[in-house]
Amino acid sequence: MCGIVGYIGKGQVSGVILDALSRLEYRGYDSAGIAVLNSRGLEVRRRMGKLKELVKAVDERPLKGTLGLGHTRWATHGEPSEINAHPHTDCHGRIAVVHNGIVENYAPLKERLLKQGHAFRSKTDTEVIAHLVEELAKQHPLEEAFRLALKELRGSYAVCLVSADEPRRIFGARNASPLVVGVGKGEAFFASDVPAILARTRRVVYLNDGEVVTLGPEGPRITTLAGRPVRRKPTTVTWDVASARKGGFPHFMLKEIHEQAGAIEQTLFNRLDPAKGRVIFDRRTRRFLDGLSPQEKLVIISCGTAYHAGLVGQYMLEEMAHMPVDVDLASEFRYRGPMLDRYTTVIAITQSGETADTLAGVRLAKEQGAKVFAICNVMGSSIARAADAVLYTHAGPEIAVASTKAYTCQVTALALLTLYLARKRQRIPTAQWKRLVQGLGDVPRLVDQALAGEPAIKAVAAKYAAARNFYYLGRRYNFPSALEGALKLKEICPLIHAEGYAAGEMKHGPISLIRKGWPIVFIATHSPVYEKVISNIEEVRARHGDCIVIASEGDATIKRHADSLITVPKTEEFFSPIMAAIPLQLFAYYVADANGCDIDQPPNLAKSVTVE
Ligand code: AGP
Repeated sequence: MCGIVGYIGKGQVSGVILDALSRLEYRGYDSAGIAVLNSRGLEVRRRMGKLKELVKAVDERPLKGTLGLGHTRWATHGEPSEINAHPHTDCHGRIAVVHNGIVENYAPLKERLLKQGHAFRSKTDTEVIAHLVEELAKQHPLEEAFRLALKELRGSYAVCLVSADEPRRIFGARNASPLVVGVGKGEAFFASDVPAILARTRRVVYLNDGEVVTLGPEGPRITTLAGRPVRRKPTTVTWDVASARKGGFPHFMLKEIHEQAGAIEQTLFNRLDPAKGRVIFDRRTRRFLDGLSPQEKLVIISCGTAYHAGLVGQYMLEEMAHMPVDVDLASEFRYRGPMLDRYTTVIAITQSGETADTLAGVRLAKEQGAKVFAICNVMGSSIARAADAVLYTHAGPEIAVASTKAYTCQVTALALLTLYLARKRQRIPTAQWKRLVQGLGDVPRLVDQALAGEPAIKAVAAKYAAARNFYYLGRRYNFPSALEGALKLKEICPLIHAEGYAAGEMKHGPISLIRKGWPIVFIATHSPVYEKVISNIEEVRARHGDCIVIASEGDATIKRHADSLITVPKTEEFFSPIMAAIPLQLFAYYVADANGCDIDQPPNLAKSVTVE
């Protein structure tokens, strides 16, 4: 939440900063701001609303300088407004700060600074940082004042600071909020996320919590909060700049939906050998998985879409690897007092690797002696680094707020993990195992086939676009698909209420709402509970509900049970959540599009939720 950028270089900064912010806007878009340092001192522009308002303001009154900060905000303390937009400055406008996170003790700090004569303008927690550094800089050099200020902050922060008194340096630090350093040729960056800087450099230094960086055009000097030097070389990221652009699609979401076959292929690459019937992991992952005890318990923690992937993983791991699996929302897990020990592996599933609740769950697991295995999309992210082993999904950067390709890659990674553990523990008949390994190899091709159904799905979406309530129902492996389908729709189309349920649960309450014409999306692909799902469909139709059914290709009987039919390639049930995801995502996309919704930036949401 909130995107921050710092830039020092040779060119005019404002263009570079605004470009970087445009690639971070998915992190928040309530307001945006920029501060540039030049011979006149600090110049700040801030605007309420989306980044385009700030771009307009800078076009009208251009900013000159070779060093500056930028921010795109997702409000926590203080409503979205120009006065609460970052950068925030000290009393004399000589220090500017951008921040992502929450300063939990801002109230007592503000009270103290007010008594010391500081004048506050905003309602934000962030402004205290500018005044605190101003106060401490009366007695200490700026870098030391910054460090001392950080030591007083409680909560989470990724923060960047510039001062008119140090015109060749930007200062940055992180604690429980993401911040990376980009090293270019004669220029350097701070950014919340790698896509912001991909157009200028792929050399990145990942920071740890409690590290402070002094950034000059030559690159970073990293120290700990205590001032001890830290040596860390930049790593070269494999993502390219094209992957962070829309590439001709009207929205990132649609582009990312269409990237799924390739993303899944990348996730399987070098890990699956269908010809020889093998699942291959790197040494660290193998060592971790081979070291699990016979009585190992798995606890999957995650949020939102990643939680739904975790629920699919539970069906996979329990059925095929015969391991006990709990699945928890990370935000509940961390406050539930879970019973963990050294025979527990916590599997953290996360696209960003920065979700605050999942990260807190990982830390709790480690404190209690459990092991942590991450399924993560972002290399060098906090959760990837905190875990004992990581299985990366290679989905590439996911920019749209609504997760699509990350989800299907998470389910793919869980399939790989399941097949590896099932084989290792000899819990699965060889013939079935071989069939599943081969089936997994076929998934990218079948996903492409499912995507070819787009025009038909678009037509079904047009038929139901005016509806304002939807149910999504499924059973077993596709109960999570129902939850995910409903989340996709309500997330990007805030006019609509959508609810996912286990189809067998309808008659225990929710069926009372069904009225004539109420749309219900059923996932009725080929499975051992197919006939049960058909009964559930008929229960709804008996009450005049309008059934949109997602079924397997070649199902000759389903037509007579469906008011609208969408088909996906027939697979083993094990892979059906990946197949079902494609029409569910496209259906949500086209319903939202028909309703004129802001698909990539839905109101009140942000891509990575790095605050509680
Ligand atoms: C999905 O469409 C959402 N944007 C959201 O639920 C997301 O999956 C969740 O916040 C978890 O994020 P993570 O995978 O980065 O941890």
